[in-house]
Amino acid sequence: MRLFFAILGHPVSHSLSPRFQQAAFDALGIDASYLPFDLPPERLQKGLEALRTLNVSGFNITLPHKEAMLGCVDTATQTASEIGAVNTVISTEGRWLGENTDGPGFLLALERFLEENRLPFPTHALLFGAGGSARSVLWALSKRPVTHLLMVNRTLSRGKELLKLPFLSTIRTRMAADLTDPALGNWLSDSPGALLINTLSLHAFQGRSVPFPPLEGLPLSGHLLFDLSYASKESGTAGGLTPFLHMGTPYRTPRQNGLGMLLFQGALAFEKWTGRKAPVEKMESVLRDATGQDSLWRSV
Ligand SMILES: NC(=O)c1ccc[n+]([C@@H]2O[C@H](COP(=O)([O-])OP(=O)(O)OC[C@H]3O[C@@H](n4cnc5c(N)ncnc54)[C@H](OP(=O)(O)O)[C@@H]3O)[C@@H](O)[C@H]2O)c1
Repeated sequence: MRLFFAILGHPVSHSLSPRFQQAAFDALGIDASYLPFDLPPERLQKGLEALRTLNVSGFNITLPHKEAMLGCVDTATQTASEIGAVNTVISTEGRWLGENTDGPGFLLALERFLEENRLPFPTHALLFGAGGSARSVLWALSKRPVTHLLMVNRTLSRGKELLKLPFLSTIRTRMAADLTDPALGNWLSDSPGALLINTLSLHAFQGRSVPFPPLEGLPLSGHLLFDLSYASKESGTAGGLTPFLHMGTPYRTPRQNGLGMLLFQGALAFEKWTGRKAPVEKMESVLRDATGQDSLWRSV
C-alpha cells in the first residue's frame, strides 16, 4: 500500500519540503506520497483527525503549529520536550511520537558551515529572535562549548524568558537586549569571532533602506553570520543572500543561510520515518534547483 506523509503549516505553499522529501522517497524506490496542507490554527485539530483517519505514516509541522503540536502527540522525545516544540511526527501502529529535528538539523548545518570555512566552534553567540526556532537554536548551542550568549529580540521580555530554559545552564554568561540596545556594539567589539544567528522572520526588515537595521554601523569584521531564513527564486533575493547576510558583505564574513538547516532537519525526519539513510545528495540537488543556488555551503 502506498505510504502517506504530509506537512502542515499556515502558510505552507512556499515550503520546499514536499519537493525534496518526495524526491528522497522516489530516489530510494519507496512507494509514498508527501503532501502539503495549509491549516490555520483553528483548523489544526480537524486536520490532525483527518491524518489519523487516513493512517498517515509521518508528517512535518511548520509555522505556526510546532509548539501546539507538543500537546497533540501520544509521546514526545526528550529533544522535543526540552525544546518545547515538535516539527516531526512518526506514526507507529497509530501511535504518534513527537520529535524535533530542527535543533539537531541546525547543529549539523552549523558544523558543516564551520568545517567548510575551517573554523573552530565559536564560544560567543548572539541570537536574534525569541520565537519557536530560537528555542531549537538555543538547545543546539547548549550542546557545544558556548560560554557567552546574547539574546536580542524586539520584545525584550520574551528574550529574557527564553534565557530561563533549564538546558541553558551550560552557558556561563547569558544576557538579553532589545533590537536597539547600544550594548550590542560593545558586545560585538568584545567578542571577536562571535557567531551571529538570525531567527527573525525574513519579512521583518524587508523594504527598509538598511537590510538589517539592528546591525547598522556595527563592527562585523571577524564575526560569522548564520541565518535561518533562506532566499527562494520567487523572493528575488539573488545568490542566497538574505537581508541579514547582506550586512556582512563589506567585511567578507563567512555566511550561511537556512537551506543547510532545512536540508538536515528534513534528512533526519526522513530517516526517522523510514529507518533508512536519507539520500542527502539528491535532496540537496533539489534544493539547489529550487533556489538557484549553485551550492548550499559556499560562503555567500
Ligand atoms: N531553515 C530552516 O530549516 C528553518 C527552520 C525553522 C524556522 N526557519 C525560519 O526562521 C524564521 C523564524 O521562525 P520562528 O518559528 O522562530 O518564527 P516565530 O516563532 O514567529 O518568531 C518570529 C521572531 O521574529 C520577530 N519578529 C517578527 N516580526 C518582526 C518585526 N516586524 N520586527 C522585529 N522582529 C520581528 C519576533 O519578535 P517578537 O518576539 O518581538 O514578536 C520573533 O522573535 C522564519 O523565517 C522561518 O522560516 C527556518
